[in-house]
Amino acid sequence: MTGGAGFIGCALSQRLAGQATSWTVIDNLLPQVHPSGERPADLHEAATLVRADVSQEQTWTELDGAPADTIIHLAAETGTGQSLFEASRHGLVNVVGTTRLTDWLSRQQRLPKHVLLTSSRAVYGEGRWVRADGSDFYPGQRSHEMLSGMTWDFVGAAATAARADLTHPSPTSVYGATKLAQEHILSAWALSQQVPLTVLRLQNVYGPGQSLTNSYTGIVTLFSRWAKSGKEIPVFEDGQIVRDFVYIDDVAEAVARGLGAPTPGLRILDVGSGVPTTIHGLATHLALVHAAPAPVVTGQFRDGDIRHGVADLAVTRRELGFEPKTDLATGLSRLQTWIDAQDEG
Ligand SMILES: NC(=O)c1ccc[n+]([C@@H]2O[C@H](COP(=O)([O-])OP(=O)(O)OC[C@H]3O[C@@H](n4cnc5c(N)ncnc54)[C@H](O)[C@@H]3O)[C@@H](O)[C@H]2O)c1
Repeated sequence: MTGGAGFIGCALSQRLAGQATSWTVIDNLLPQVHPSGERPADLHEAATLVRADVSQEQTWTELDGAPADTIIHLAAETGTGQSLFEASRHGLVNVVGTTRLTDWLSRQQRLPKHVLLTSSRAVYGEGRWVRADGSDFYPGQRSHEMLSGMTWDFVGAAATAARADLTHPSPTSVYGATKLAQEHILSAWALSQQVPLTVLRLQNVYGPGQSLTNSYTGIVTLFSRWAKSGKEIPVFEDGQIVRDFVYIDDVAEAVARGLGAPTPGLRILDVGSGVPTTIHGLATHLALVHAAPAPVVTGQFRDGDIRHGVADLAVTRRELGFEPKTDLATGLSRLQTWIDAQDEG
């Protein structure tokens, strides 16, 4: 497992313990995510941690000959906004890190039985929208001019929920472009080698264990902390940005199900809650819970941000029997309990 000491990797380690007896995690404990530089307490003891960088050739040569029946590729630079200004860093880790992995796999005597990639809803960009007359189109990226003129939406059209078999990828962030590149690299390799590949396109994952110090990811954690400290939560655009917040345990369950049932060839599945939530709705809920002032709609924006991101889970339900179990109110309450424990500890 690469990147297995991160937020999703640790939750997955708890979910897989007992099912898998041991596994190797390659993770460089990126300081932005792991400020202490220590092995995370939530990483199950069955995992052997190799502290190394997936983008470095030496990491892989040192692992030559190591058994690898199943590959779970999580390691990534994940800052959507940050990626616009630190594109090479995202390219190096996400793209070259993936080609290093396939080069390593090609050198080994035995092929893996299954490769699983955690991709992202960021590959869709704005995705597919529908006009009032029912025709659909891909609006592409909102321009800086559009956003600075406070035109947030594509006029006369409505967004659709993203589903891999219906929505073409069209990323609007460098991060999204690198996640799509990971998909393409792994599918080119896996299909040529007849290794089953599962790609899970995750929506916005939140919950206990998400880095409290990484200001580039985790809007739910950030808002929760603001509200807890009694501050007004600043909400971008007109507050009506829509996201699909999916609880970490549901994501770990989806990954475990994806691992349990490989199918020949490539399959791409969406993982989310399937529920649209506005950023203003999220902020209002958290402000009420903490008796903090009402959120403030600031009209600020970030270039490259998408307006609407929600998953259509129909295929994932059918293929994996996956059903998200944790609603947002329950998930936020568990997250808060965890944040409180971290603050006290
Ligand atoms: N969390 C989300 O909302 C979300 C949404 C969509 C997709 N994903 C994807 O899921 C995967 C895991 O994300 P996460 O939320 O657990 O993020 P995370 O930042 O908590 O975990 C990523 C892990 O990768 C490690 N890493 C980073 N660069 C590395 C490198 N060069 N070499 C080795 N390890 C490196 C980090 O130290 C970290 O432990 C990523 O591929 C991400 O793109 C996450």
